[in-house]
Parts: sequence; C-alpha cells; structure tokens
Amino acid sequence: MREQLNELKQSALSAIENADDIKTLEEARVAFLGKKGSLTAVLKQMGTLSAEERPVMGALANEIREAFEGGYSAKIETLKNAELFARIESEKLDVTLPGVRRRMGTRHPLNIVLDELKGIFTSMGYTMVYGPEVEETKYVFDLLNTFEGHPARDEQDTFYVDDSTVLRTQTSSVQIRTMMERKPPIAVISPGRVYRCDEADSTHSPIFHQCEGLFVDKGVTFADLKGTLETFFKRLYGDSVKLRFRPHHFPYTEPSAEVDLSCFKCGGGGCSFCKGEGWIEMLGCGMVHPQVLRNCGIDPDEYSGFAFGVGIERITLMRYEIDDMRLLYENDMRFLRQFA
Ligand code: DAH
Repeated sequence: MREQLNELKQSALSAIENADDIKTLEEARVAFLGKKGSLTAVLKQMGTLSAEERPVMGALANEIREAFEGGYSAKIETLKNAELFARIESEKLDVTLPGVRRRMGTRHPLNIVLDELKGIFTSMGYTMVYGPEVEETKYVFDLLNTFEGHPARDEQDTFYVDDSTVLRTQTSSVQIRTMMERKPPIAVISPGRVYRCDEADSTHSPIFHQCEGLFVDKGVTFADLKGTLETFFKRLYGDSVKLRFRPHHFPYTEPSAEVDLSCFKCGGGGCSFCKGEGWIEMLGCGMVHPQVLRNCGIDPDEYSGFAFGVGIERITLMRYEIDDMRLLYENDMRFLRQFA
C-alpha cells in the first residue's frame, strides 16, 4: 500500500503541475480526492491492514492529501491570476478607435421662423400669450363681432366640437382672452395652431399656424400699426422689402387692411411665384373695433389699439422659397436636413 500511495502522490502532484486551466485542475482534484477518487479508493482498503500498519498508512495518506491540497491551492491562485490578466488584456479599451456618430435632430423650418418672429417682437417690448386650441365660440367669433349667422361661422369651413365649441380657426380668440384679463397698455403676440376644413394642397392645410399681434394703449394709431409691421418685415426679409396696405374688411377691426409684400423672387416685377402680381399677400390687420374693446371691458374713448394675424407657413415658404406647403408636414428627412 505504501507503494500505491507513493505512486498516487506522484501522479496527483504532476496532474496539478500539468493543469493549465481551472477546469482541468478541478477535474484532477475530483479524480484524486472525490468520492470516487483514487486516494479515497486506497483509503477504503485500510480495513484490510493490520493494527500496526493502519496508523502508519493513515499518517502517510494524510501527508499525501496535505501535499496535494497545498499544491492545489497554490496552483488555483496562479490560474485565477492568469485568467484575470487575460481578461484585462482582452477587454482593454482602445480610445483611438473612431466613435459612433449620434444623429442630432434639427429645428423644423416653422420653428426657426417662429423663433425669429418671437425674437423680433420681444425686442419691441411684446410678450407671448397662449390660448386653447379647442375654444369656446364666443372667443373665436361672438366677441369678435362675428355673431351667429355670420359667414365666418359657416360649419362647412370649421371643425365644431359642439354648438359652442370649435377648433379655433384663428388666433384672434387670444386677443379677446387677453383684453378680458389685462388692463392696457397691452402688447402681446400669440403664436399657435389653427384649424380649418380646407383640402390640403400646395398652399392650404387643415392645420396651420398663425401669430396674432395686439397693441392697446392710449393714442395708438394706424401709423403705429404700419411702423410696427414695416419694422417686423424688414427685420425678417431685409431692408429692400416693400409693404402694401390694401383696404379690407374684418368684423373685428375698423379700418381693416390686408398687407402684401413685394415678391422676394422678382422684387415686384411679376414672376411665377407671385403669379405675375409682383406682390404676395401676407396678413390681415386693422384698428381694433371699438365694439370689440367694449366687449372686453375697455373704454374705446380712452384707449385704441391695433391687431394683426399672420400665417407662419406663409412667412416660412417665402423665407426659404419653398413652393409646396405640404413639404412642411411630410417629415421627409431629405427636406428637413436642409435646415440644419
Ligand atoms: N384672423 C384673421 C385671419 O385668420 C387675421 C387677422 C386679421 C387678425 C385682422 C387680426 C386682425 O388680428 O386685426 O385671417
């Protein structure tokens, strides 16, 4: 048995020696010390030994097991370190590799123009106000002198939610809300979405954007309106742009006007963009009707004001020479990236 044990010791120690990964080392341990291991098998034969031999062999077997365990723990330490080192080597970060490009979004052309518009009017002392898109008819129509039966209320070109609620057709509703809430002087602009039952084509969309402007104070005149709009459009399009005020009718202003701009493409000579007119219609405006002021609790003998409403799509199309309004809503990246 002594021989058997010594042989076992040799083969077990060389198994440790030769194991070059943790798995092989573990297998060697099981093969030697496990339930069915070789040392265990030898120890099972102890019963056949004489009483004198037994403690001697027992001591030898223990010594061998200790030798094995010592060799085993030293080796496992070495192998673990080697594995860790290999992992660190293989996972190391190469900061010189090219990065992954993240695609940034771009501002939508309507927002670019709107931001510019806000900038120009805030620099003239205006503040921003907002109103609901689902609005009571009294704010969209009645209090703007557009009573029941007026053509502007025709259900055919308006989305009604019920008899007294509409998707607002114009931002002029915010004039009323503002004048009912504040005392003059009032200088506000109100950008936002509006809705009309229009078929979509190159110049129409059932949803579009307007910006309303309102200035009410003592002694405000039509000259103030002209000067304000002229300043606005020159800042937006450059000093060479010309404005033309044409008499018009809106129920909520008196007098009322529509404003045309000289065509940015031909400068006024007439081209396909302005349909040979030389002018492009830009907005509606006028002096706030005395009855509208009265409707909102403002005394027209003391105060006067002007108002205007401008289409943001229209400004944008002209600004970037875009010939079809639908491009603004289609989310075609090839189009949108051009405004980066
Ligand atoms: N609300 C008009 C429209 O949608 C535009 C407009 C005209 C607004 C005259 C006004 C105004 O404030 O005074 O066409």
